[in-house]
Amino acid sequence: MGLVDYRYWGKRDTKLILPTNSSLSVTLDQDHLRSTTTSRADPKFEKDRLWLNGKEEDIKEGGRMATCIREMKRLRREVEEKSPNEPKLSEMNVHICSHNNFPTAAGLASSASGFAALVSSLAALYSLPASPSTLSLIARQGSGSACRSLFGGFVAWEMGSKPDGSDSLAIQVAPREHWPDIHALICVVSDDKKGTSSTSGMQRTVETSTLLEKRIKVVVPERMKVISKAILEKDFDTFARVTMQDSNQFHAVALDTDPPIFYMNDVSRSIIALVTEYNRVSVAAGGKLKAAYTYDAGPNAVIYAPKENLKEIVELIVHYFPQADGFKDAFGLFGSGGAKGKVVEGFNEGVAKKWGVGAVKGLIHTRVGDGPRVLGAEEGLLGLEGFPKTTA
Ligand code: ADE
Repeated sequence: MGLVDYRYWGKRDTKLILPTNSSLSVTLDQDHLRSTTTSRADPKFEKDRLWLNGKEEDIKEGGRMATCIREMKRLRREVEEKSPNEPKLSEMNVHICSHNNFPTAAGLASSASGFAALVSSLAALYSLPASPSTLSLIARQGSGSACRSLFGGFVAWEMGSKPDGSDSLAIQVAPREHWPDIHALICVVSDDKKGTSSTSGMQRTVETSTLLEKRIKVVVPERMKVISKAILEKDFDTFARVTMQDSNQFHAVALDTDPPIFYMNDVSRSIIALVTEYNRVSVAAGGKLKAAYTYDAGPNAVIYAPKENLKEIVELIVHYFPQADGFKDAFGLFGSGGAKGKVVEGFNEGVAKKWGVGAVKGLIHTRVGDGPRVLGAEEGLLGLEGFPKTTA
């Protein structure tokens, strides 16, 4: 499952991963971005093991992965205690094999997608009667944002107030079918430096930013209400305004951290200028906002828009950020030649410079998606003996 989130910056408890504010995300379509995970329990397995993208990863004792596996086994044990005839899977070790169909290092929320897939896979293996909200409590302890990816569509993570985190969970605001018209263009921006990890950045922001308090106490609670209503009413203008305002404020709070954190770079800022000008042209002609940018803890842009605007938006981005192999999108918007790049009438081309090939390394056109899917056995990543069918 892919996702893009409205950031939940700040943790009030870093072990349980409890946020300082509620947040909202759009789950993106797995047809384009996904984590596929297979898990298997067997009395022959000597320990819990994990293969990620074909390479075995250590499951650190007391780490987030170990916590998720332990918590899932606990839920399985409850099932076994109620139904003594059920096989004692909770006492067996598990082998887990996962694969992301996008580069794990590209900053596309791979751990959120991965932990949601992990929890869904174990829930299927264990035949758990748990709701996605209950599973979200466990996914949250793997990667905060993962909790929202247990649902498709438009999803809120309610921060909760209990110290044990039992009310810090995800709820679905609306399924994909409610507003399938929402598409997204992800601009994968080249990032040379290794940025601040989101966990350590978040902690420093909580400790040092004085702007954060106003944001989490006053601004975000109000915006959660406004954007949820906008989603229910399919009001793109409000959705876009709040999305962009919230992205901007999140990056303002990053800058207010001591020492300051810069997640966006010059390419990211150029994309803001382009979306802003694109919207200005529409509003000047009496129209509404046609696109919204948002940035997470890195330089990649996600541009949301109603489907009908995607062709213009792709052309706009390609005009300023030429693509090495042209751009062929998954929705057949462009013929075999791909997008050549152009701007809409009335667009002030001086708002950004034209960049060279590679400044935006890739474009992914996708849309709001559904939640976790259980695949057929033939798609499993583990062979009959419980080892990966392919390794890197
Ligand atoms: N972190 C990044 N990708 C992941 C995956 N597919 N599963 C678990 N953790 C991950």
